[in-house]
Amino acid sequence: MPTTYTTAILITGGTSGLGWHTALNLAHTSPPTTLLILASRSAPAAPLPSPHTKYLALDLSSAAGVQAFVKTWSTCSYPSISALILNAGLQFLGPPSFSPDGYENTFAINHLGNAHLYYRLLAGGFLAPTARIILVGSQTHSPAAKTGLPDAYYATAEALAHPGPEKKEVAQTGNGRQRYGTSKLCNLLWAYALKRRLGKAPEGQRKSVLVFNPGLMPGTGLARAAPAWQVWIWKRVLPRLVPLLRVVVSKDVHTQEESGRNLAGLVGKVVGEGEGLYFENNGVGLETSKDSLVEAKQEDLWTWTVKAVAKDEGEREVFERGW
Ligand SMILES: NC(=O)c1ccc[n+]([C@@H]2O[C@H](COP(=O)([O-])OP(=O)(O)OC[C@H]3O[C@@H](n4cnc5c(N)ncnc54)[C@H](OP(=O)(O)O)[C@@H]3O)[C@@H](O)[C@H]2O)c1
Repeated sequence: MPTTYTTAILITGGTSGLGWHTALNLAHTSPPTTLLILASRSAPAAPLPSPHTKYLALDLSSAAGVQAFVKTWSTCSYPSISALILNAGLQFLGPPSFSPDGYENTFAINHLGNAHLYYRLLAGGFLAPTARIILVGSQTHSPAAKTGLPDAYYATAEALAHPGPEKKEVAQTGNGRQRYGTSKLCNLLWAYALKRRLGKAPEGQRKSVLVFNPGLMPGTGLARAAPAWQVWIWKRVLPRLVPLLRVVVSKDVHTQEESGRNLAGLVGKVVGEGEGLYFENNGVGLETSKDSLVEAKQEDLWTWTVKAVAKDEGEREVFERGW
């Protein structure tokens, strides 16, 4: 007899790295009435982890890709989404490259595509009234964390979407890693703006938003744009050295399995009033950078994003409200 699903969990980028390990965990811990959907551009390389897991194609790099996904979703008679895990993200090295809609790629995928998906699922009524939204952030958003990446820098959303030519001294290697850290700062800025709006929703219709810091997880597909020898070290060598790296580099180094388990744990985490929205692997709240707390930046990003993806005044109103 086919299963009657009562709820769904959707993970962007659920087919590889952190998203895949989160999916493995959720597939084993969720009841059979929960439908787990993994969404990315390419299907997973391994068999799906349970009969209650499905793959749906999603390309977050363009507005058309997000719209096509939500259109497919609307024809699938899936139950409401109780947890939306906005995990998909990439690094682009070298000089800026641009999405089909003309936005810088890191910003377009890591921030804009994931945010756009939230707005469209919300407007379509596909999110449960008390859905949990989880973004995957990173300590690279914070200069104080000294991760070794260039400091994240947010002036305006417009400047990130359409960066000008790079200064001569960085033109060779590009500012790709800085753009990556800044995109993770955008995840936090947008999450704060969303949280402010969700707080205005009536009791019983209050969704919640959290951001997860998975730490450094060698072996995932994140380094795919790096030179081949670096990818080899990242994929083949560093994952074996995690316990050592934790001692000599930073305690914020984790296996994909650990971070996947801990991200899955945030789906049902009860969060107290004063706990904030940013959590690390051990479930403890973390401070976010000074920049992430600047309300003017949060609102600049929110307003720009809504304007970029809303097709008309009706959509703009729903997206702007955020709940
Ligand atoms: N690895 C780390 O050390 C680390 C540290 C901190 C934070 N993070 C964050 O963790 C998250 C997951 O990254 P990961 O390290 O697990 O890397 P990963 O293995 O490369 O996973 C990224 C996922 O995103 C999907 N994706 C990429 N572009 C997409 C697009 N345009 N549309 C839809 N899906 C897309 C990929 O699938 P397709 O390419 O098939 O689309 C893949 O499933 C990211 O947000 C990353 O910023 C990673």
